Amino acid sequence: MHHIFNMMFENRLLFPPIPRPRRILECGSGSASWAMEVTEQYPECEVIGIDVYPYPMPDDLPANLDLQVDDLNSPSTFPSNYFDLVHSRMMAGGIHANRWLNYMGDILRVLRPGGWCQMVELYFNVQSDNGTLTANHALQVWSQSYMQSMQPFKDPRAPLRLQNWMTQTGFVEVESRVVNLPLSGWSNGAKSDCQALRENPSYLKPQQILETTPLGRRTDLTSTDYCHRSQYILSRNGLA
Ligand SMILES: C[S@@+](CC[C@H](N)C(=O)[O-])C[C@H]1O[C@@H](n2cnc3c(N)ncnc32)[C@H](O)[C@@H]1O
Repeated sequence: MHHIFNMMFENRLLFPPIPRPRRILECGSGSASWAMEVTEQYPECEVIGIDVYPYPMPDDLPANLDLQVDDLNSPSTFPSNYFDLVHSRMMAGGIHANRWLNYMGDILRVLRPGGWCQMVELYFNVQSDNGTLTANHALQVWSQSYMQSMQPFKDPRAPLRLQNWMTQTGFVEVESRVVNLPLSGWSNGAKSDCQALRENPSYLKPQQILETTPLGRRTDLTSTDYCHRSQYILSRNGLA
């Protein structure tokens, strides 16, 4: 996913105007791909990544990257006014539905005055510009099942609510952008031609999806059902 975001964002890691960040918090650092690139780009900056899952440490862990295990659904224990930037990407599957305002409140508290928060979320409601994606299309069925499986514990509409929540929490100069993530083959630009699936067909690998996401844990989709759907999606997109 990190690679796909890099393509979508044209390799831009930070959007707020911070020429020389000194301390960055990466929420839900995962395999630390984003954090590692930030430490390379800003060698003077100390980056702290936290994740609830104890990922193996990268072999080439840079000296300015500290990876810690912590739960972002609990109040943050970092000191106030500590970070120049807090980055939170693809956390809608991890942050409890009723925790978002407090999560953002924690972020605001640990940011120094004038600091920035950058949030990126994927809204899983797959849509088509020209209406060809009908309700019974496999990709649409997948997308709806995935979003349903997140509820009620997680909020699948969180990506649409970030801007309001941030403003409500007390952030100022809140700017929100919606960027389409192309999944299908009708686009004509190289960047948007089936990009996500071409780059990472493992998106649709049944074992991974069914074992590691709420779709597997909270629906009765069998791996055979899932295989049929994902094969259909791949073949519709000329990928299988
Ligand atoms: C979809 S991944 C995104 C990883 C990374 N932020 C990125 O954009 O490449 C979500 C990450 O959040 C972590 N996570 C989920 N719930 C969490 C929680 N309550 N506290 C901390 N990390 C959490 C997961 O372990 C996983 O590594």
